[in-house]
Amino acid sequence: MTDTSSAPQAASNANADAGAQAPMNDASAASAAAAAPAVPVASPAPASGKKPWETLPVTVKVNGESHGPMDVPAGLMMIDFLHETLGLTGSRLGCGQGICHACVVIVDHADGTSETVRTCITGANYFDGKTVRTVEGHATHDADGKVTLAPIQQAFLDHFSFQCGYCTPGFVNAATVLIERLKRTPIARADLEAAITEGLNDQICRCTGYVRYYEAVRDVVLKTPGCIKDSK
Ligand code: FES
Ligand code: FES
Repeated sequence: MTDTSSAPQAASNANADAGAQAPMNDASAASAAAAAPAVPVASPAPASGKKPWETLPVTVKVNGESHGPMDVPAGLMMIDFLHETLGLTGSRLGCGQGICHACVVIVDHADGTSETVRTCITGANYFDGKTVRTVEGHATHDADGKVTLAPIQQAFLDHFSFQCGYCTPGFVNAATVLIERLKRTPIARADLEAAITEGLNDQICRCTGYVRYYEAVRDVVLKTPGCIKDSK
């Protein structure tokens, strides 16, 4: 006589060996459905009209142009807001982790000071009510469409400071903040190299363009009236 006591287990093992994707017949499907734990079903969107994700307000002036008020997703980083909402794609997403500073923009404060802020790790809502400059805001355009680069941009070109150029928008903004700080608070000529090192210290260039960047900034500082207290 055939021993059938182990048949269900053998069938189960065979099913397992055949893989979980094997189709079930109607009877086994009904049986499995009855035995399966209840699967939570996503709640329908609330009828209150509330958005399914949190939003935060943004009104910001970028390169002299006001944008907003508008609501943006709470987790939207400023770099994505610049690229996707405003169409300003000059700011570069490098590391995306706050390390390389390729993505920095300039924030202008009411007291006349300026600083760089990393847009890859700073939400768009942080800039609500702020005045921002991006790399697109440095050059001037005349009525005929002629573009004149800012002195620091021209100096980076003249010195062949960059290779791939991915880091350049960040260097332009960091150098601009440094030069503006020196105009407000001039330093001795002997302290200039240290000031440039400190001002550009956070900017990472994977193509190792540091020396030519530094030389270009030094040239611009020395040619910009009011940055140096003495000529020594
Ligand atoms: S991309 Fe923002 S710090 Fe690197
Ligand atoms: S020029 Fe390529 S990363 Fe700086």
